[in-house]
Amino acid sequence: MKKSITIILAAALVAVSGWSMAQQVASVNTLRGADTAAPDHAPDEKAYAGKKPGLQKPIDRTFKEQPPLVPHAVDNFDEITVEENQCLSCHSLEKYREKNAPKVGDSHLAFSADGTKKVVTMDRYQCNTCHVPQVDAKPLVENTFVGNIQK
Ligand code: HEC
Ligand code: HEC
Repeated sequence: MKKSITIILAAALVAVSGWSMAQQVASVNTLRGADTAAPDHAPDEKAYAGKKPGLQKPIDRTFKEQPPLVPHAVDNFDEITVEENQCLSCHSLEKYREKNAPKVGDSHLAFSADGTKKVVTMDRYQCNTCHVPQVDAKPLVENTFVGNIQK
């Protein structure tokens, strides 16, 4: 008898503490800033900063291994496909001098299968997985990241 009362009491305690924790979670402000059931509005689409290539200065890097950010507009470029990569029409070894563009990183290059010339390796082919254009937008959450490059 005594044992079962203890069990009931313990169960009640667990239920009460669970309830009060749920209350606490509910009162925390969500990052989304709205009830989960409320319709979600996508933020306005912002235009990328930067004009056509050739008019910008490079953006300072904030840490040593950072893929440099894309300072120019990319809106009018075609999608990167297996057949075509417009980024390479300016940044490749063959074209960078003529186009006055920075050359792809040396780490992106390897000898072609026949060993006659250096080409961009396939794991560096999809440029925009690492190099991203910029938008002038307020950060969604506070960010205290400090880079390791001394200015
Ligand atoms: C028409 C030529 C052209 C095309 C196409 C082009 N770029 Fe550029 N890119 C440039 C030039 C020129 C610069 C130098 C900065 C400037 O003037 O905007 C540059 C700068 C950059 C930089 C900064 C490099 C650094 O050291 O800071 C990155 C990264 C970059 N481009 C990536 C890309 C990617 C990714 C694409 C394809 C989506 C692309 N570019 C397409 C010409 C081009
Ligand atoms: C897997 C990530 C990744 C991919 C994909 C990638 N890059 Fe990079 N890129 C980097 C990193 C990291 C650096 C800086 C260090 C270095 O040179 O390796 C860099 C450097 C560069 C630079 C500056 C080179 C210099 O000497 O300052 C240019 C220009 C560039 N990449 C263009 C491109 C283009 C064009 C493509 C697509 C064909 C591309 N990258 C694909 C990560 C990447």
